[in-house]
Amino acid sequence: MIHARIAGTGSYLPGEPVSNHDLVQRGIDTSDEWVATRTGIRFRHLASAETGASDLALIAAQRAIESAGCEAGDIDLIIVATSTPDYIFPSTAALLQSKLGIRNGGAAFDVQAVCSGFVYALTVAEKFIRSGANKRALVVGAEVFSRILDWSDRGTCVLFGDGAGAVVIEASETPGIIATALHADGSHHPILCVPGGVASGQVIGDPFLRMDGQAVFKFAVKVLGDVANEVLDSAGVEAASVDWLIPHQANIRIIQATAKRLGMPMDKVITTVEKHGNTSAASIPLALDLAVRDGRIQRGHRIVIEGVGGGFTWGAALIEF
Ligand code: UT7
Repeated sequence: MIHARIAGTGSYLPGEPVSNHDLVQRGIDTSDEWVATRTGIRFRHLASAETGASDLALIAAQRAIESAGCEAGDIDLIIVATSTPDYIFPSTAALLQSKLGIRNGGAAFDVQAVCSGFVYALTVAEKFIRSGANKRALVVGAEVFSRILDWSDRGTCVLFGDGAGAVVIEASETPGIIATALHADGSHHPILCVPGGVASGQVIGDPFLRMDGQAVFKFAVKVLGDVANEVLDSAGVEAASVDWLIPHQANIRIIQATAKRLGMPMDKVITTVEKHGNTSAASIPLALDLAVRDGRIQRGHRIVIEGVGGGFTWGAALIEF
């Protein structure tokens, strides 16, 4: 039986951390106290105007490839999860493939599932590997959410940041990604969306992120608990035997509520929301890479990753690292 195992991780955050206080200095009508108390966020990173998602993805990918001990040319599948692609087309994955210097490579495509994007992309890559179609996949979450924020809307602009995280997954005789679950319910799309597009050279609709924060909060707490239990049940694994929970990093109160529902203490939960803000599809692989590099996550540890985002989409994966 072919398994899909994480061989290496990498991540990248652009520029210097921008504090809540810095946002106040830039004229946003907020306070460190409000943002930190309601969300746990104190800092985020914001990419320069010339930096695209593929640029962030490139550095994260190079670090993941190096940590996997392989070469870019060994990658035969690239999936990038992003809602802030460089272009309408080609995909950010195709641009990343080019920047990595891969020619005549395997498939490269984007997955658009907003903050669940990395869980979606990893699940798709896992199926390709387990089918035998591919040997080594690069899965990236990369976002420049700062581009789709309305900086006059204090209810949303303080919440998000830019960044990228990546993993290399490869065919293996040992597990691996043990169980996955993905869900969507598009009827909830109005509570978190960017309801705009481009047509005939014009922006059509509203090209900024709009959110009903309280509705998203309630929805997120419910489905994150449900989907984590779903992957654990499908694998016959107790939450108590999970070493680390890596939830999507949107709000520390959502993370705490999810951990409580699973009966997991917060010292088994990887959190980066304080320093990164919400980096959407990048948040889970960023947190994973951080905890691998600082030595908390070790080979053989069991990890649950889980995300929820616009769509609505949500999903989880149980991984033996
Ligand atoms: O990846 C998934 C994406 N999103 C999420 O997971 C977000 C989920 N939701 C949340 O995290 C929370 O709902 C928020 C942090 C967005 C908002 O917290 P809240 O406790 O639901 O606050 P609220 O929207 O009900 O606003 C409460 C007050 C309002 O003032 P009034 O009407 O009570 O006078 C807002 O105008 O806070 C005000 N407010 C702010 N004040 C200072 C809203 N944003 C800010 C701000 N600074 N940045």
